[in-house]
Amino acid sequence: MKQQLNQIKADVVSALENISSKAELESFRVEFLGKKGRLTQVLRGMGGLSPEERPVVGQLANEVRSFIETEIERMGEKLEKELLEKRLVEERIDVTIPGTRKKLGKRHPITTVLDEIKDIFIGMGFQIAEGPEIEGEYYNFKALNMPEGHPARDVQDTFYITEDVVLRTQTSTVQARVMESQKPPIRIIAPGRVYRSDAVDATHSPLFHQIEGLVVDKGVTMADLKGTLEVFCKRLYGEDKKFRFRPHYFPFTEPSCELDISCPACNGKGCRVCKGEGWIELLGAGMVHPKVLEMSGIDSTIYSGFAFGIGLERTVMRRYEIDDLRLFFENNLKFLKQF
Ligand code: PHE
Repeated sequence: MKQQLNQIKADVVSALENISSKAELESFRVEFLGKKGRLTQVLRGMGGLSPEERPVVGQLANEVRSFIETEIERMGEKLEKELLEKRLVEERIDVTIPGTRKKLGKRHPITTVLDEIKDIFIGMGFQIAEGPEIEGEYYNFKALNMPEGHPARDVQDTFYITEDVVLRTQTSTVQARVMESQKPPIRIIAPGRVYRSDAVDATHSPLFHQIEGLVVDKGVTMADLKGTLEVFCKRLYGEDKKFRFRPHYFPFTEPSCELDISCPACNGKGCRVCKGEGWIELLGAGMVHPKVLEMSGIDSTIYSGFAFGIGLERTVMRRYEIDDLRLFFENNLKFLKQF
């Protein structure tokens, strides 16, 4: 029996040499220490030993068992270590490989210029107002002194949703809405989308943006209109530019005008950009018509005001020398990345 035990110990040593995985280590454990393992089998024969032999063999058997157990533990740790080293080699990260660059979005040129315009007016004490794009025909027309039958109401220009609901054709709708809900002094700009049933070309789109401005207070005059708009234009286009106010007609302002800038391309000499005129139209403006004040509940004998409407796309086109308005809406990254 002693011999058997010593044989087991010798076999353990040689068997260990061939173990290279955890699964092999487990079958090794079963082979020697399992219920039907070799050590167990030897111990079964203990009953046949003499009382003197028993403790001696028992001690040897215990030694062999703890030898095997220690070896299993040692081998387990060794395998674990090897596995870790293998993984560290396999999964090594090469920090010198260039990464994949995340593409950062940019602001649309329309947003950039609009933010600049907002800043200029906020600097002059204006607040930002808003109105709905789907609008009652009252606010789009009637409240702006455009009674039924006025040419601007023509279905050619206006998208009608029902007989009295339209997609607003101008941000002037916000004028009446603000005057109804706020008391003077009023000083607001209202940027937003407007819609007209125009065919798409280099200077027309059925959707575009306007910025409305409205000032109502006691004693507001045309001089305030001129001063405010001149400051705005010089801030946006540069102090060296020349501006001119030209008489015009709008149903909701009286008197009305348009503001032109000396052509930035030819400096007023006349070229293709300004169609030979030397001037480019920037915006429409005027003194708010007393009827418009009255309709919105403001006493025109006490208060007066001025209003203006800026076409945003045109302003951006002039700013960045863009010659086709369609580019703003095509989402072409080659175009958009330039700003
Ligand atoms: N709403 C006018 C337009 O769309 C512009 C404008 C606004 C004119 C305010 C005068 C005063 O053409």
